[in-house]
Amino acid sequence: MKDNSKTFYITTPIYYPSDNLHIGHTYCTVMADAMARFKRLQGYDVRFLTGTDEHGQKIQKKAQAAGVTPQEYVDRVVAGIKDLWATMEISYDDFIRTTEPRHMVRVQEIFRRMYAKGDIYKSAYEGWYCTDCEAFWTDTQAPDGVCPDCGRKIGRASEEAYFFRLSKYGDKLKELFTTTDFLQPQTRVNEMLSFIDSGLEDLCISRSSFDWGIPVPIDEKHVIYVWLDALSNYITALGYPPVEGESTELYEKYWPVDYHLVGKEIVRFHSIIWPAMLMSIDEPIPQHVLGHGWLLIDGGKMSKSKGNVVDPVKLIDRYGVDALKYFLLREYTFGSDGQFTNEVMLNRMNYDLANDLGNLVSRTTAMIEKYCGGIVPGPGKTEGPDAELKEMATECYKKVEAAMDKFQFNIALEEIWTVIRRTNKYIDETMPWALAKDPAQKVRLETVMHNLADALRIVSVLIFPYMHTTSSKIREQLGLEGDPVWKEAQFFDMMNGQVARKGEPIFPRMDVAKELEELEAMNAAQKAAAAAAAAPADASTGSASEKEEYAPYKEAIEFADFDKIDLRAGTIIKAEKHPKADKLLVFQVDLGSEVRQIISGVAGSYSPEECVGKHVMAVCNLKPRNLRGLESNGMLCFACDEKNNKFTFVGADVKNGMIIG
Ligand code: MSP
Repeated sequence: MKDNSKTFYITTPIYYPSDNLHIGHTYCTVMADAMARFKRLQGYDVRFLTGTDEHGQKIQKKAQAAGVTPQEYVDRVVAGIKDLWATMEISYDDFIRTTEPRHMVRVQEIFRRMYAKGDIYKSAYEGWYCTDCEAFWTDTQAPDGVCPDCGRKIGRASEEAYFFRLSKYGDKLKELFTTTDFLQPQTRVNEMLSFIDSGLEDLCISRSSFDWGIPVPIDEKHVIYVWLDALSNYITALGYPPVEGESTELYEKYWPVDYHLVGKEIVRFHSIIWPAMLMSIDEPIPQHVLGHGWLLIDGGKMSKSKGNVVDPVKLIDRYGVDALKYFLLREYTFGSDGQFTNEVMLNRMNYDLANDLGNLVSRTTAMIEKYCGGIVPGPGKTEGPDAELKEMATECYKKVEAAMDKFQFNIALEEIWTVIRRTNKYIDETMPWALAKDPAQKVRLETVMHNLADALRIVSVLIFPYMHTTSSKIREQLGLEGDPVWKEAQFFDMMNGQVARKGEPIFPRMDVAKELEELEAMNAAQKAAAAAAAAPADASTGSASEKEEYAPYKEAIEFADFDKIDLRAGTIIKAEKHPKADKLLVFQVDLGSEVRQIISGVAGSYSPEECVGKHVMAVCNLKPRNLRGLESNGMLCFACDEKNNKFTFVGADVKNGMIIG
């Protein structure tokens, strides 16, 4: 039986090893790592799980394109992912790969148990399938054949398949959302409730049109749907369900999980499908699912084809692991999207790390060396600004705990930096260099040095979960031995007699303008390489195999069929994000005789601001459709491939409302 007061189980999503991971992926893992380290520091018995989600059609296609087997493909990428986590000093306790036998046998057992419960039946699937998200969609959910999650054009899947009676669990799920704090933030709860209210359908949980997956135990022609396979990792990694009478010790100790951290686009899988699966096998559901926002670049998600993917390793090579972790945790607010820019990153690193923290460390240790022969003096009489400094430093841990309870890493760090800045100010107020000139002030000077060292010691405890290497460097310079203990952040006057010495600057100051220039040059080279890689597919002289990438022409139609389409010129006069669907943009289109609301799944290709003023083609006689609660009256035309949606413009001299045909 899990004891919440002693154990803490936290997970990241298991990443698709379809490509190397970018900085967006590291964001979640860095947060989970900081939380795991924080809880360990507080004395919890922590289990931190991460891993890779290696099956499915997307990986199979990637491997085919690379001319290797899926297993060879994932082995190579997974090795890179493990290297990345080692470089980033991620303190996971277990790394699960869904191709490992320990996982596969247990997923089959979960399937068997759901089947035995009567929750799985065989039928025929006919609908949409997004290979990128590995998600099924109904005609209502994807009316234009566009994935509502990622905005890409998707294909039909039509095959005999096994289904999970997800609909059976709709009421229990609603109760979960409305009576507990299982899912956070609240905005995600509303999305999930409206998803259930729009009609929870049974879920297709097997595929037979490809074979890179775990075989369905009762029918080997099928493989288990990759999300059923992937979600199970959170318990298979704890050795559950037991096979061949193995011990369930880990499961009993850590399950139900305290926190599943997941990106906002996969909240649905974690807060609807996953709990329903657990309900089906009569196991406890997770205590919390937390949906975080995305790191955006140029207003959209990072994408390899745009060449704007930020490689964490390059940044670590230049600035170090702790600086990158600090930036990710300090800059962004959990639950919200945030823009990634080099400028914001460099300024954070320079001001907070080099100026505030770096300066404090070097000034403090240099002065202890200079004025006290490198030996930290013991406590003295409290006077002047001492009391305020001591209070701020010793009270900070409570503020950090309160922020961490809510996964507010940025607030926790801001609280710590308030202490750092206050300590720097303390140096300016007490002016040790002036005290040093007056032999009568020797005792006061020692007290000031003691207070500085003690405040810095507290800082070294507080920052440990987020930047443990920096914490160790500071402790070493202060002559402290061993890792910090959380409780010590609440006491002052613990320094006395340690041998301090000034070391190398922990964060050297940067010339931001110069650094920015170099990063921009690197980015430009990366974009050019991406454009060059994409070029052959765009060229009309492409080889036969390149041409196969184009969608085949549709069946021929009569002119009369075409003539049924009322296609007109219009101008977008307003564009907004859909409040309930990340991938949809809501347009107000001036069609001459009227302004119409038209919704398109193109948020992955355009920001709302970019769309205003565009002269576009609109299909005006499509029947109205309700898209996640808003009516769309028509359709805008886009040139589309698997990744992009690009406006097909009409000239600026074409009047709004003119018929195109
Ligand atoms: N394999 C599934 C998860 C299965 S969990 C049982 C998957 N993999 S993923 O590699 O595509 O994404 C993993 C996580 O990375 C998701 O939570 C996703 O939100 C996150 N991110 C990917 N790009 C991101 C940003 N640009 N910013 C923040 N997080 C992002 O989904």
